[in-house]
This record gives sequence, structure tokens and C-alpha cells, in this order.
Amino acid sequence: MPDFLLDEDFEKFRKIIYDESGIHFSSSNRSILESRLRERLKIARLDTVDSYYQLIRSNSDELKTLLDSVTTNLTRFFRNAAHMQTFEYFVIPELIKARSRERRVKIWSAGCSTGEEPYTIAMLCKELLPPDFTIEITGSDISLKSLLIGQEGFYAESRVSGIPESYLSKYFEKKDGGYRIVDSIKSLVRFDYHNLKNDSGLSNLDVVFCRNVLIYFDEAAQKASVNRFWSAMAPRSYLFIGHSESLFGMKTQFEFIKTEWACIYGKSVENGTTRR
Ligand SMILES: C[S@@+](CC[C@H](N)C(=O)[O-])C[C@H]1O[C@@H](n2cnc3c(N)ncnc32)[C@H](O)[C@@H]1O
Repeated sequence: MPDFLLDEDFEKFRKIIYDESGIHFSSSNRSILESRLRERLKIARLDTVDSYYQLIRSNSDELKTLLDSVTTNLTRFFRNAAHMQTFEYFVIPELIKARSRERRVKIWSAGCSTGEEPYTIAMLCKELLPPDFTIEITGSDISLKSLLIGQEGFYAESRVSGIPESYLSKYFEKKDGGYRIVDSIKSLVRFDYHNLKNDSGLSNLDVVFCRNVLIYFDEAAQKASVNRFWSAMAPRSYLFIGHSESLFGMKTQFEFIKTEWACIYGKSVENGTTRR
């Protein structure tokens, strides 16, 4: 319906969404925004987009709900086999050497959606790191409804299809028509509401996964996020971004690493701070 969202309304909403999350709505995505706004107006029992705009300006919870509703949360366990092989055969062996003294790894899954990514990382760490290594994984997102699913750690049968049989039988319990992640893996992951527009407060990270998130940001927001990753990462650490994303042309300090399996980024320099 052409007059539901006038051009000036579209501009106002896309600006506030961009300012608050970095998510960039192009004109071709306008219909997605329109449909989400229709849903929110109905729930809030409001008649006009303008009254809804006033609401999100004064009510931060409603703004969060709108942001949640415009996110794309598609994910799956062991997503992108080449990335997982890079983690398994390149990054983990490197970390075993580099962190032999601290015997601790800190990993961030930024934009973790419903938890499949941080739990995949947790299973691989549990399987491949020496048993006396401490594993700390943070999964963060701006989608509260996704974070709740991650925290619950329960997945329908259709969502566990990518998990190798040996991992499924070892790290999940079949229950109530689905699969529940076992406590020994669940306890390795802490879920947190965090907007990539802001500082995470995390530091000395050994690995950052931020896959299929930057694709929704424009260049300025991508660059700001990537610079924040750099500051939060330890020397000799690694960054995974989505296979369709790239830091090419962004002039960051990250080093491009081409492994046998996939390309990732590394922070190799000592940054003058003492690790832990
Ligand atoms: C397509 S999912 C990717 C999930 C997972 N990383 C993967 O590759 O399977 C993108 C996630 O990024 C989150 N996201 C979008 N903008 C964000 C922001 N500003 N801060 C934190 N998370 C954000 C969305 O809520 C969504 O869950």
C-alpha cells in the first residue's frame, strides 16, 4: 500500500534504525521495513507510523523490539565447513602453542543469533583443546528473542541436521521432540545483549567470529565495528567474517591470512599491553 509509509517516514525510520544498530535499509528492502512496522503498529494498537515513531523515540524497550524485528537471524550449526576446518586445523593448533602458558582461550561470537555458532565453537574447543585449558565463549546479539533461544539451548530436530553424528550423540540429549545441548557445553557459553554500535567491554580475545552480520551494515558502520574488534583482540588472534564479507579497501591493521581451507584475518602485532 503506497501511502502506508511515505518517503519521509521511510527516511526517518531508516535513519533511527541505522543510528541505533548500524543496519542499513536500502530502498529495495523498504517492503521488509513496511511489513515489520505494520506488525508493530498492530501490537502497539497505533494507527499511524508517526505515532509509532514518537513511541520508539520515548520508549527504549519498544525501540529494541523494533530493532529485533528487523534483524535477519538465519544461522545453523557448523555453518560454512571451510571456516570450521580453518578453526579446527589452523586456529586451534596455533592457540595451543600461543597460549601454552595462560592455558585459556577467550572467544566472541558477535551477532550469534540463536546460539548455533557459539555452541559449534564450544563443541570444537571441547573436543580439540587440551582438557586443562579454560574456555570462555561470549555470544552476543541485539535480538533478544534469539538470545533467549540460545540461552535455552533447545533445538528442533530440523535444526540439528548439520551436526556430525559423533558430536550430536556426545553433546546433545534427545528430548521432547528436539535436542538439548548438554550442560558441559552450555556452561562454556555466556549470552549477552550487545549492540555492535557500542564498545563490548571485552578484551584480550583470542578469536572473534562476526559472520554474516557486517553485510547488513554500511561501510562506515562496518569499519567502526572492525576497529572495535581490533581493540578487543589480543596479539596473535584471529577474526572470522562471513564468506561474502571482506575487509578489502577498509584500511584496517588486520593481516589477511589465506589458509588451506578459508581466508581469515589475523592480529599479529604486540599492542604494547600485557596479555592478561
Ligand atoms: C544472519 S545472523 C548471523 C548469525 C551467525 N553469526 C551466523 O553466521 O550463522 C545476523 C545476526 O546479527 C545480529 N545483528 C544485526 N545487527 C546487530 C548489531 N548492531 N549488534 C549486534 N548484533 C546484530 C542479528 O540480530 C542477527 O542475529
